[in-house]
Amino acid sequence: MSEGILLAKVARGTLLPEAERVARLREALPQIEAALAGETDEVALQATLACLLWETLPQTNWCGFYRRIEDRLLAVGPYQGGMGCLRIPFERGVCGACARTGATQRVPDVHAFPGHIACDGATRSELVLPVWIHGQVAAVLDLDCPHLDGFSATEAQILEDLLVRCFGADR
Ligand code: SME
Repeated sequence: MSEGILLAKVARGTLLPEAERVARLREALPQIEAALAGETDEVALQATLACLLWETLPQTNWCGFYRRIEDRLLAVGPYQGGMGCLRIPFERGVCGACARTGATQRVPDVHAFPGHIACDGATRSELVLPVWIHGQVAAVLDLDCPHLDGFSATEAQILEDLLVRCFGADR
C-alpha cells in the first residue's frame, strides 16, 4: 500500500486562496508524476489521478473522468466524490462541451452555463479538461467545486499540461 500524497491536510470543501492552491498543486506535481511513472494502462492512470487530484484539490466535491465510449457519447470513469451521471452525450453539459470542442472549460458559475448538468446541486463552479490520445479527445477530467470560481486559469493550465504528460502529447 503506497502512502498516497504528502501534503498539508485541508478539510474537504475548503477553497484556499488562489496562490495557496497553485503552490499546493505545484508541490503535488512531482509526487503525482512519480506515482504514475511508467504506467500506460488508461484505467490505472485515470483511477490514480482521480485519487491523487482529489487529495491535492480540497475545493473539489467531485473529481474524475468521463470516457468517450462512442463517437459522441461519454460514460463515467474512475472518480472520487458523490455519484455522478453515468452517461453524457456530447451535446450536453460542461463535459459535453469539452469533449465536443477539445477546449478546456473553466466555468466560474455553473448556473450561468446553459445546459449544465446538475449531478450535485451543491456544485457552483466547474473545470473540465480534455484528455487527448492519438489526436482525439479520449476522455475528459471533470472537477466540480461547491464554491463560485473554484478554479483559476493557472490551475487549469497546470492540470492541462499534466494530462498531456500523463496521456501523451500527440494531439
Ligand atoms: N456537471 C457536469 C456533469 C458531470 S457531474 O457533475 C459529475 C456537466 O455539466 O457536464
